[in-house]
Order: sequence, then C-alpha cells, then structure tokens
Amino acid sequence: MRYRRIPNETIRRLPVYLRGVIHLSREGIENVSSNELAGLLGINPWQIRKDFSYFGDFGTPGVGYDIGGLIKQINRILHLDIGHKAALVGVGNLGSALLAFPGFRMYGFEVAAAFDVDKRKIGRKKTGVLIEDVADLHHLDRRGISLGIIAVPASASQDIADALVEAGIKGILNFSPRYITVPKKVKVITIDIAMDLARLPYYVP
Ligand code: NAI
Repeated sequence: MRYRRIPNETIRRLPVYLRGVIHLSREGIENVSSNELAGLLGINPWQIRKDFSYFGDFGTPGVGYDIGGLIKQINRILHLDIGHKAALVGVGNLGSALLAFPGFRMYGFEVAAAFDVDKRKIGRKKTGVLIEDVADLHHLDRRGISLGIIAVPASASQDIADALVEAGIKGILNFSPRYITVPKKVKVITIDIAMDLARLPYYVP
C-alpha cells in the first residue's frame, strides 16, 4: 500500500504513537480512541486524528482505533516491519550505555556490530557484541547492516561518517556534537542532550 506524502512533523510523532499503542497492547487493550491516546501521550486529540488520517482513517466511531492495526500501519510506514541492524562506532561511556540499552528492540533494532580504535577494547565483548577494529569497518551492507551510530569524539566524527557511508550505510544517528556532511542519499539524525538541556533554563523562571 502506498501512502500520501507524510509531513516530517507527523513522522516525528509516529514513534511516540507507536510506543503508546505498544504499551496499551501489552496491557491487553484492543481499541483506543484519539481522546484516550491523547491523554496517555500528552498530544492533542485533533493532532492525532489528523496524523492518522494520512494513512487512512480506520478508526470506528464509538469504538476507536484498532491497536493491532495501528501498530502494523505505523511499523510499515516507518519501515520498522523489516527489522534493522545498526553498527555502533565508539564504545566509550555513551557507546557502552547504548549497547546495554534494551529499548531499541521495541522498534525492531539490533546493534549487530561495534567498532573502536582502542586496542584494549578491540576483541572484547560488550553486552554480547564483539568490539572490532575500526580499521576493519568495511562492507557493512554485506552483513545486512544499514544504520550507523556515531559515539566517538567530535574530532573523529566526520572521518567515521565517511567510513560508514563508504561501507554502505544508509542512515546515521550522530551523537557527536559536530555537524557532519554526507551524500544526499544518506539520512543523518543528530541527537544532543546538552543542547536540549541548554534550552531548558529559558522556560524556568
Ligand atoms: P568516551 O571518551 O567515553 O568514548 C569515546 C570512544 O570512542 C572511546 O572508546 C574511543 O576509544 C573511541 N574512539 C575515539 N576515536 C575513535 C575513532 N576514530 N574510531 C573509533 N573509535 C574511536 O566518550 P563518550 O562520553 O562516550 O562520548 C562519545 C561522544 O558522544 C562524544 O562525541 C560526546 O560529545 C558525545 N556525547 C553526546 C551526547 C548526546 O547527547 N548527544 C551525550 C554524551 C556524549
């Protein structure tokens, strides 16, 4: 099934909806109204109805949205229904925490490979994942790995981004506090907790 072009803002909210409906499904709930979902997620009900209308209005008046159907649809739109393997580069404080984080599995992600430059770490396992020499970071596409996670110091992040692209990676989650450039075909999402924290005092009297 083809979908109309979905705005980026809606795409940004889809994982929030997904997390909410997975939670409800685990509680054994089968249907949810936009009002109930709004209360659970802190999002306006009209916003939820508008977002869901992009992929077909399958809510039933008086019954609400079928949770199993929602999970399937959102997974399909986000391409999460096929499962994705990611390679982590930089197994320091942050990288180790990411490897130990069980929350990626909810979305079908597996951190299937880890790389570092530190000879003391190479050859060891962290949370069951072997740490490989970053010099051997090639042909990740042949290993079924399509995503990269950068958790190296800022000074190394562009080189690592280049190596990931060269190895066939299609999307990068960048934790390093540096803008990285990649070819157009590769999508980069940068996460910076410190930057979010820097916005917070503005709202605090
Ligand atoms: P860390 O120093 O504990 O770990 C960095 C790791 O990268 C080390 O294991 C090091 O050996 C490895 N490394 C260095 N150069 C490398 C290279 N060329 N190739 C492969 N591995 C290499 O640092 P930490 O605290 O884990 O932070 C890592 C990065 O994440 C930094 O850029 C930091 O600023 C950023 N960070 C971002 C956060 C965010 O909210 N986005 C939060 C915390 C850290």
